[in-house]
Amino acid sequence: MTGNFRFARVQLVFAMLLTALIFSSAPVYLNSEVQAATQNATGTPGLKGSPDFWQKIREGESGTVAGGNPGSGQLIQSEGEDWTQMRNGPISRYGSIALLVTVLALSLFYLLRGRITIDRGLSGWTVERFNNLERFGHWLLAGSFIILGLSGLNMLYGRFVLLPIMSPEAFAMLARIGKYLHNYLAFAFMIGLALVFIMWVKDNFPSLVDIKWLLRGGGIFTKGSHPPSKRFNAGQKIIFWLVILGGLSISLSGITLLFPFQTALFAKTFAILNGFGFDLPTQLTALQEQQLGQLWHNIASIFMICVILAHIYIGSVGMQGAFDAMGSGRVDLSWAKEHHNLWVEKLEKQGKLELRDADEEPEAKPQPAE
Ligand code: HEM
Repeated sequence: MTGNFRFARVQLVFAMLLTALIFSSAPVYLNSEVQAATQNATGTPGLKGSPDFWQKIREGESGTVAGGNPGSGQLIQSEGEDWTQMRNGPISRYGSIALLVTVLALSLFYLLRGRITIDRGLSGWTVERFNNLERFGHWLLAGSFIILGLSGLNMLYGRFVLLPIMSPEAFAMLARIGKYLHNYLAFAFMIGLALVFIMWVKDNFPSLVDIKWLLRGGGIFTKGSHPPSKRFNAGQKIIFWLVILGGLSISLSGITLLFPFQTALFAKTFAILNGFGFDLPTQLTALQEQQLGQLWHNIASIFMICVILAHIYIGSVGMQGAFDAMGSGRVDLSWAKEHHNLWVEKLEKQGKLELRDADEEPEAKPQPAE
């Protein structure tokens, strides 16, 4: 045996010994980690590996960890699984059904009733319905809502609807852009919501005329029927309050998602609801607050999208002359008299009915008869 060969054998044995040492010490090291975790999770040294310990973890018992979000001390949270199943199950399913039914109902209404036209025909004279600030507020709210709605729907359904028809890279890019837009446009939506509330709340308190309007179905199902209405009819007042309250609720739950673990809105809301006979939990962990916030954000948003689809329909293709109110800000006098006669009468009485020729040629036709 040469000297070199002997030296190589010694090296090999040494290497094997070292490897054996490392492997045998690993469990000791890992064990001490588990033990530390055990003590952290239960506060009781020595429970490691016992069925009791794992059962406690499975039941969601929390320990403490240095740093991290509130709730990071909880290794298993079963409600998380419930939340995932709820989001990907009933919420996605019933949400898509609600959206589909709304679109189908509006299409059916259009097929049966057709476009609601101005019965007495265009007068050729216009009256101001919304000023610049009002239209700015409306379009800030509307524009942000539409982008928030589309990007939100992409988060819920994009992978089923868009991913099959585009490359994963393009979908990832779209989803990322959508997410940023969703986060930042939320603030534009809140400003628009506040503006619209301040500008229009005075015209949206219920009155007796609204009951009569509702009893006649707003006249939208019968040709030639025009129940009296002030500046906003009962249908619009309902939309207004749904937008304000629904928008507020979506905004608050959205803030919960934008700034995680900072709010406890559900525990407080449930406590109030329990005063009305409900029996809802008022002791919620920070993580449960987050999960409820996310679920509610989805439910309220899908409901609002359905409401707004109906609003967009009636404000555009569904009714002749309606879009002008938010387009140029001026509507035809015949439209105004048919849909908001009491408002026109009030303007007349106050001497504020300033008519303008639709073609900007006042001398071309005579002023309309009162
Ligand atoms: C393309 C989308 C939209 C169109 C074409 C549209 C059209 C209109 C029109 C024409 C009016 C005035 C109706 C009148 O003269 O009385 C109006 C009012 C209003 N819009 Fe929109 N809108 C759209 C989107 C939205 C969105 C997304 C929201 C809220 C999130 C919204 C909230 C409102 C509210 C609260 C009013 C006042 C109450 C009412 O008239 O119902 N709109 N919209």
